[in-house]
Amino acid sequence: DKNIVLIGFMGTGKSTVGKILARKMDRPLWDIDQAIEDQQKKRISEIFENEGETYFRNLEKQMILDVSSHRGQVITTGGGAVVDPENLKALQSSGILVALDATAETIYQRVKGTRHRPLLKSGDLMAEIKRLLESRKPFYEKAELTVSSSGKSAAKVADEIYEALESREDFEFGKDWF
Ligand code: S3P
Repeated sequence: DKNIVLIGFMGTGKSTVGKILARKMDRPLWDIDQAIEDQQKKRISEIFENEGETYFRNLEKQMILDVSSHRGQVITTGGGAVVDPENLKALQSSGILVALDATAETIYQRVKGTRHRPLLKSGDLMAEIKRLLESRKPFYEKAELTVSSSGKSAAKVADEIYEALESREDFEFGKDWF
């Protein structure tokens, strides 16, 4: 009953795919960013603005360590979550890491109309996406499975993950976990 942990860059579809996957697998969903917002009663963008990124990263770590102490869940993470080695270790030891991948162009199209991402507020959005995507790549490559979401519906991506997990011998689909 390992957790299924979705990692990947902003705009790759983690939260939407996570919702569908959790329903499909009949598992509880933990969205780390959502859980932080509920706990703090503030949007992530407000936390960045008022308390700063370091403060947010501490909240994120605490939440990841808490959530990783449970099993049998689908966990969706913020795009920077696995940059921290302790976070990565906690998520890896409790679950299977699945990375969602998308091209810079796809990410650009998906995030350009949104305003809630504090790390994508600088002038040249495309240049910022490319720069950050490149620096995050080695961390997303730690995943056991990578699925591209470019040009696919969230339902299709969730299906692909489900099928890939189903073929793993070490993975039981919630048959016995409750
Ligand atoms: C971040 C991604 C965001 C959120 C925060 C920082 C990042 O989550 O955690 O703004 O460092 O990439 P999404 O990936 O869900 O947008």
